[in-house]
Amino acid sequence: MKEMMINNEKVIIRKSIKSDAKALIEYLNVIGGESDYLTFGIGEFELSVEQEEEFIESISKKDNALSIIAEVNGKVIGNLNFSGGPRKRTSHVGEFGISILKEYWGNGIGEELLKYLIDWSKSSGKVRKINLKVRSDNTKGINLYKKLGFIEEGILKRDLYMNGEFYDSILMGLLIN
Ligand SMILES: CC(C)(COP(=O)(O)OP(=O)(O)OC[C@H]1O[C@@H](n2cnc3c(N)ncnc32)[C@H](O)[C@@H]1OP(=O)(O)O)[C@@H](O)C(=O)NCCC(=O)NCCS
Repeated sequence: MKEMMINNEKVIIRKSIKSDAKALIEYLNVIGGESDYLTFGIGEFELSVEQEEEFIESISKKDNALSIIAEVNGKVIGNLNFSGGPRKRTSHVGEFGISILKEYWGNGIGEELLKYLIDWSKSSGKVRKINLKVRSDNTKGINLYKKLGFIEEGILKRDLYMNGEFYDSILMGLLIN
């Protein structure tokens, strides 16, 4: 668990637990409408509370998966999920997704969530590579990833389709040694 103070509010960063399921779904449905850089739009996150509970439980049982949230006064304001591969040949590598509630952008919370993932990966003894995909015009995201050592590894052409337009994704990665 980590804590930080932002504008006199205590932000707690911790692993997700089963009872966060409802708040997480509500959060994901809000942020879907706040950013064009996510793979889902407003109201498009379609898991039920039970399915989200199962998702959190299954992650907590794995040694190569992590789900964390940032919360303020019991409200979810940020989330990061990482999952490694299911088999021996891919279990050392995984991809993550990250988001922060718009009202809290630019306060260092995204950076803290990502540092949490990197520290956890280093101490897991299991994770040796973190991958991500980011829309090629998401400057904020790309800056954050570069700041923490991620390197551009390639481009996926026409990877996303939004409002009648195709967008490329950049693949980035960080080796964990
Ligand atoms: C991308 C996102 C997770 C960053 O989280 P955040 O809490 O706003 O970012 P932080 O305040 O921790 O900033 C960390 C770094 O990100 C970059 N960054 C953040 N805001 C930025 C901005 N407005 N312009 C340029 N770079 C920016 C900078 O490198 C910054 O480091 P610095 O403050 O030393 O310059 C957040 O903005 C978000 O949820 N965006 C919408 C969803 C999204 O894009 N998710 C990622 C999909 S791949």
